[in-house]
Amino acid sequence: MPDPHRAAGAPGKVLSITSLANPIVKEIRGLALPKNRRSSGLFVAEGLKLVADAMEANWTIRDFVHAARAAEEPHVARLAAQARARGGDVISVSEAVLAKITRRENPQTVIGVFQQRLLPMTQIRAEAAPVWVVLENIRDPGNLGTIIRTSDAVGAGGVILVGDTVDPFSIEAVRATMGSVFHVPIARLTRIEFETLRRRWPGTVAGTHLAGAVDYRSVTYEAPTLLVMGNEQAGLSPDMAALCDVLVKIPMAGKADSLNLAIATGVMLFEVLRGRLKLDG
Ligand SMILES: C[S@@+](CC[C@H](N)C(=O)[O-])C[C@H]1O[C@@H](n2cnc3c(N)ncnc32)[C@H](O)[C@@H]1O
Repeated sequence: MPDPHRAAGAPGKVLSITSLANPIVKEIRGLALPKNRRSSGLFVAEGLKLVADAMEANWTIRDFVHAARAAEEPHVARLAAQARARGGDVISVSEAVLAKITRRENPQTVIGVFQQRLLPMTQIRAEAAPVWVVLENIRDPGNLGTIIRTSDAVGAGGVILVGDTVDPFSIEAVRATMGSVFHVPIARLTRIEFETLRRRWPGTVAGTHLAGAVDYRSVTYEAPTLLVMGNEQAGLSPDMAALCDVLVKIPMAGKADSLNLAIATGVMLFEVLRGRLKLDG
């Protein structure tokens, strides 16, 4: 959310914080809670790589926070200058403050506070990519982050979250994306909205289901394919399964009753795109 006290185009402030009781410390630390991320529209990315990825992809930065001792490091100084030029505040903090903000004993030297960005349903352009991933009610931030990263790796159009799905901007999910959260469009839809999207979807809508009778390798996936994955415990709901053109299963030989959701998504993505991905990109 834009800060109403900040003039558009003006450089950010430069601050130094050593007090653990500083309200900015409390606010950033509070972004670990979903309700605070919801109300502020902000989230935290930890570490030089993630912050650099976000800046490179032009995500709006509100605060660039760095350990005071790292101020002179060239990467840190360059990113700080860039953040400030874009209107972000540059905040130098003590080790104790950084540990408090990140809730870690050995925190990263840099963290960024960014504005969340979701793809509105009206901007989901099916033809923009050969495959899109749909996740219903998924709960595990590590799974979500891994799926966003894998979707990035295969050039998927985006990840569409349907129903009561874990927040892609939680620290754990962002961390697991390894920076791909800044490159893969993410949309959030209700099931009713998904039904509308599905009705006008031009390619195959392929659901994955343990009760699926169709081997995932036997299907011709018409692009753009909508790949629909289910919840870690309950699997795909009957309502979502009914919206799919086909329900496929990945065969399993051992005693495991299912694959991990992120693994199953990876296997499916590479099958849907078989023959299209080349080593030289
Ligand atoms: C851990 S599984 C869910 C298991 C759940 N107990 C069930 O009965 O569906 C989570 C999701 O991963 C996908 N999945 C996992 N293993 C699969 C397999 N062998 N074939 C197809 N999809 C699979 C499906 O999308 C499934 O909804």
